[in-house]
Formats: sequence, C-alpha cells, structure tokens
Amino acid sequence: MLQSIAWQVTVACVALLLLVFGYIALNAGTKSEGAADSVARLRGWVFWVLVAVFVPIIGYTLTDLPYSAPHARNAEPVLVKAVGHQWRWEIDPVRVPSRRPIEFHVSSADVNHGFAIYDADLKVVAQTQAMPGYTNVLHVSFDRPGTYRVLCLEYCGLAHHNMMTEITVTGTN
Ligand code: CUA
Repeated sequence: MLQSIAWQVTVACVALLLLVFGYIALNAGTKSEGAADSVARLRGWVFWVLVAVFVPIIGYTLTDLPYSAPHARNAEPVLVKAVGHQWRWEIDPVRVPSRRPIEFHVSSADVNHGFAIYDADLKVVAQTQAMPGYTNVLHVSFDRPGTYRVLCLEYCGLAHHNMMTEITVTGTN
C-alpha cells in the first residue's frame, strides 16, 4: 500500500520535473524580456508544490514506522519469553490471545538472531534482534486470530534457515 503510494508520487514528481525541464529547454533560446523573471517564478512555484506534496507525505509515513510502541496501560500485557538458539526458537507460551497487548521478551542463548513474526500472508508483523545477554522487549497486538510464523532474520550459522516456528493467536471469546 505505502509502496504503491510512494511509487505513484515518484512518477508524478518525475513527470513534473520533466515538464519543468522541457519548459526551460523550450524557452532557453529566446531572449525575451522577463524570461528570467518567469523562470524564477516557476522555480518558486515548483518549490512550494514540492513542499506541499512532501511535507504531508513525510508526516504521514513517520506515523507508520515499523517499530513497536508501548501499549496504552489499559490492559495488562501477556508476557511471552522468546529465546533464540542455534538453530531453534524457544517460545513460551506459544498460544496468545488476539486483541490483547503482547510483550515479547526476546533474547538469545548463543549468537545474534533476528526475531521476526510473520502473518499468514508472510508479511512481517513485528521484529527485533535476539541478542545474548540482553533482553529486547517487543510490543505487539494481533488483530486477527490464526497461525503466525517466527523466522530468524539474522544469518546465524549453517542451519539459520531452520530457525522457524509458529505461534497461535486465539480468538478473544
Ligand atoms: Cu538464528 Cu538466523
């Protein structure tokens, strides 16, 4: 979704730039009075159009950063311990409720691993590093019940690709 918006905006901006270049190229040869003025005016106009386009886009995309924010304190979070090993995940519990704040406490028993939760469409829901001697807290709330996959996102040795497991998100009722 965001990628297609970014693509369309890029195409629109490139088209706009081409128009401006074309306009300047067409008018470059003519020495009419006020030509420099109109180019300067056009440049100012393009600048403000770009500001008007990009400031809201940057503002909007910044609100959708893929980093977890702590949940509002209206519900007690469910604590889940996740430890990476060469080459498996140890997750407890593996069943969590949907629409509840879940707090993953992620660490590693040996080397650095990447803890990534994927939904049924294999889209990353949340991810953090699993590091030895350190606990990263990942705040997640699952909207949809179902089976989610946990894959390792950090190359951690020969059987890195085997570091897969599942967690089950149950319905609320
Ligand atoms: Cu653990 Cu890659």
